[in-house]
Amino acid sequence: MSAGAPRAEIDRPMASRAAYALLHNTSEVVTPDPEGTRVLRLPRGAIVFRDGRVLEIGPVAELTRRHPDARPLNANGRLVTPGLVDCHTHMIFAGHRAGEFARRLAGESYAAIAAAGGGIRATVEATRNERPDTLEKLLANRLERWRANGCTTVEVKSGYGLTPVAELRLLELVRGARQRVPVRVHTTALLLHALPEEYRGRRSALVDELCDSVLPLIRLRELATAVDAFCDEVGFTVEECRRLLTRARELGFAIKLHAEQLTRCGGARLAAELGALSADHLESATEEDWRGLAAAGTVGVLLPGAALTLGLGLPDAAMVRRSGARFAIATDFNPGSSPAQSLLECAALAARLCRFTADEILLATTWNAAKALGAEREVGHLNPGAWGDAVVWECEALEELPYWMPAVRPDVVFMRGADLALPTLERRVWP
Ligand code: NIG
Ligand code: FE
Repeated sequence: MSAGAPRAEIDRPMASRAAYALLHNTSEVVTPDPEGTRVLRLPRGAIVFRDGRVLEIGPVAELTRRHPDARPLNANGRLVTPGLVDCHTHMIFAGHRAGEFARRLAGESYAAIAAAGGGIRATVEATRNERPDTLEKLLANRLERWRANGCTTVEVKSGYGLTPVAELRLLELVRGARQRVPVRVHTTALLLHALPEEYRGRRSALVDELCDSVLPLIRLRELATAVDAFCDEVGFTVEECRRLLTRARELGFAIKLHAEQLTRCGGARLAAELGALSADHLESATEEDWRGLAAAGTVGVLLPGAALTLGLGLPDAAMVRRSGARFAIATDFNPGSSPAQSLLECAALAARLCRFTADEILLATTWNAAKALGAEREVGHLNPGAWGDAVVWECEALEELPYWMPAVRPDVVFMRGADLALPTLERRVWP
């Protein structure tokens, strides 16, 4: 070691050195602008992280001159983007439904399988019968897989409990798992997913109970920040969803809605009317629905994994652009309609099926997805003040992200400006 810099190394406590770093030697740094309206590209750009946040982004020569004491982090000539945001998952569940997948490929419909006791209820059964520590472990390991795939913020919905008691149990388990994995988790209570057997013939009693006691309890225990419902012919009516979400909004929850998936029922209009953060699915939505979302500032969330698995259509990019709405892309990871474990893979499919540009794909998996969670001030971009959550990808150009299949893998994932040692595939929280 030479005399100059090493002394500074010894003098400065490790914690503050780790918290002050300069990511350099990138091919380019790419980020949405602060308003999420366009994509900024900084060839050979650099980022300064301080105390977990982005302090500055800009030309490498200038930032190196201004921050000589920052710990250098080498991107090895690769592409850097914000950490991706998966804004729609149902990742707390047990078992799988590969058998149903085969039946659907052989011609049976999702609705027919559900009516015959399969579908959501089959996963509810498997989840109810699973030990709580196993469920927590499954979720933590999944979160770690998402991080290994470049997602630093992940939404997790409950929804495979169905009864109020079982939903509360799942929300408690999400809280347990999220404390074990360095991923930002946004928890959503999906409270109207399918009618529990116990409430057969008493639909409105279920909605009453959710509004009168379950929502206030979730609020009190801070078990979720958003509330969601499945508005569909095989789910719940517009009126039932309106009652639940209106009460949720009164209590201060953000609201989201599964809308226009299997049938067009008016869910997108309801989401816009209530000022929901997002309306998700939209496979059966019209251009008018998309224009309504645009006017309300509600993000339309596309779920290519579910559309492909159920054989439903995805919208054309030109129509979405014309509508003026913001759109995000998410995995919808669940054992029935979307066993999709990579957000970037879903985005690469959407790029092909809908004909989105690489800029649109980046916005849809970062800033717009963050907006669908109400977190766009904090994550989904690398402008000064945002959390220092960033990915160095095993490629050089933004255009490569939607291009390669299987999707490009992260080389390094930073959370709060720190490299949390990512293994080649994923590190299991539990064996
Ligand atoms: O988002 N649409 C409703 N819920 C899930 C599917 C759940 C399941 O089939 O288990 C979805 O696609
Ligand atoms: Fe979903």
